[in-house]
Amino acid sequence: MMFSLTLLLLILIAILADRLLRQSLLSPLTKVPGPWYARFTSLVLKWNELTANRTRYIHGLHRRYGPAVRIAPTELAFASAAAVKEVYCSGGSGYDKTEFYDLFTVYGRRTMFTTLNKGDHAKRKRILADRYANSNIVRQPSLDGITERAANFVARCDESVTGSGSLDIFVYLHSYAFDCVTHHLFHPYGANSLQSKQDEEIMREVTFDDSLQNRLVQYYSPTLHSLFGTLLSAFAKPRETPLADEFVLETSARTDTAAFTVLNRLNEAGPPADMEPIDIAAECLDHMAAGIDTTGDALCFLMWELSQPRSLRYQTRLREEVLMMANPTGGAGFDKLAYLDAVVMEGLRCFPAIPMSLPRYVPRGGRDIDGYFVPEGTVVSCQAYSVQRIDEGVFPDPDTFNPDRWLDPKGDAERKRLFFAFANGGRGCVGKHLALAEMKMLLCAVYSRFETRPDESMAPEEMEMSDQLISSRPLGQRCLLRFLPVGCHRGE
Ligand SMILES: *[C@@H]1O[C@H](CO)[C@@H](O)[C@H](O)[C@H]1NC(C)=O
Repeated sequence: MMFSLTLLLLILIAILADRLLRQSLLSPLTKVPGPWYARFTSLVLKWNELTANRTRYIHGLHRRYGPAVRIAPTELAFASAAAVKEVYCSGGSGYDKTEFYDLFTVYGRRTMFTTLNKGDHAKRKRILADRYANSNIVRQPSLDGITERAANFVARCDESVTGSGSLDIFVYLHSYAFDCVTHHLFHPYGANSLQSKQDEEIMREVTFDDSLQNRLVQYYSPTLHSLFGTLLSAFAKPRETPLADEFVLETSARTDTAAFTVLNRLNEAGPPADMEPIDIAAECLDHMAAGIDTTGDALCFLMWELSQPRSLRYQTRLREEVLMMANPTGGAGFDKLAYLDAVVMEGLRCFPAIPMSLPRYVPRGGRDIDGYFVPEGTVVSCQAYSVQRIDEGVFPDPDTFNPDRWLDPKGDAERKRLFFAFANGGRGCVGKHLALAEMKMLLCAVYSRFETRPDESMAPEEMEMSDQLISSRPLGQRCLLRFLPVGCHRGE
């Protein structure tokens, strides 16, 4: 008995020692700096994920160890332009995605976003990309829809002035983003959640989703998740969006949407693209979900910052520029405004809607990334939050919101190289131009009419970053602002 126990212990120690030796001394990854424990375990990383703190945790490691960090035995994080170029742009669309993206499959189907390999992705993207081209976004029928929804948002601001005195922009910016993205997907069948309670319910279901922990378990232990899913859901809610699922299933069956819409393109693609109706629905649901939190939260963080006393001078300068336009609330004039552009760029730099790691597998044969040899199969990633802050030569005083930094022609190329809010390369955000148009249009509509200030009831902690599966939202899930009408608007 004693003997066999000792033997067992010895074997265990031998196995552990072997593993330690391999991971800590023999792996090429040992050359990459990082906390000592990351050589042996991913538990600390996982703990930070479960507590919605992954982005800040990794950023802390970058600040301590530099732009290349080992964050787990087989996972590295990078924050340099060289790494972005290699991981996300080499060969056009960079390295293949990891199974992390399986968590985003919808109706059991893979979409453009969730395809893992290059070939499948390119096929789907060829079909979809043209509807998201800037030339399509700034065409009148498309832009009119955004203008109209920005006006609906302003109507909410107006109501708050005469009503309760403040407006929860966290909620209504998500409504705005929902209405805009479904306009682009389905017009004339887009949602109208800024005016209709029924549509607002769909938006709330998607926005107030709380499935982070449940989905992390699904990712790390699929077997556990399938065996104990029911039990687990008592403690950690699964993602359930029946209203949104229903809305998209129904709407994506339409065959008479406007020519500029994404659905029109999918229907046009027809049988050769081997997409069944359920694939079309899945693609639409994916684009819808991707368009709500991202644009909604990015605008929310940005308007919150613009409303702070320290940023009022930026707000004033923005208003001056917007009021110089002949028609601040319609047309594509917003596209020419340099200060508005600087405000949006700085907003996306400080508060990227997706601040988190976008994980990829190092391809066969291994690769050199930012001066390190990384063996095949290693998980590597960059996170926008760090890429856009870590180099203080390019972004001096990186934690300070300062749109003016974008106006300096010197360093412009370096700043753009490190701008990662829409990721980069062939798998970069397809909706970038739509998102920018929505953001700019809304800021024009709001700041030509109002000054905004934080509501006194808001605590700063409520606006801290709370990491969800991939995007980040304000911790308090509300953001109350006061809207003060400005004295005279041109043209009224
Ligand atoms: C998040 O991570 C940062 C950096 O490691 C740490 O300072 C902070 O305490 C963490 N916050 C939580 C809530 O765990």
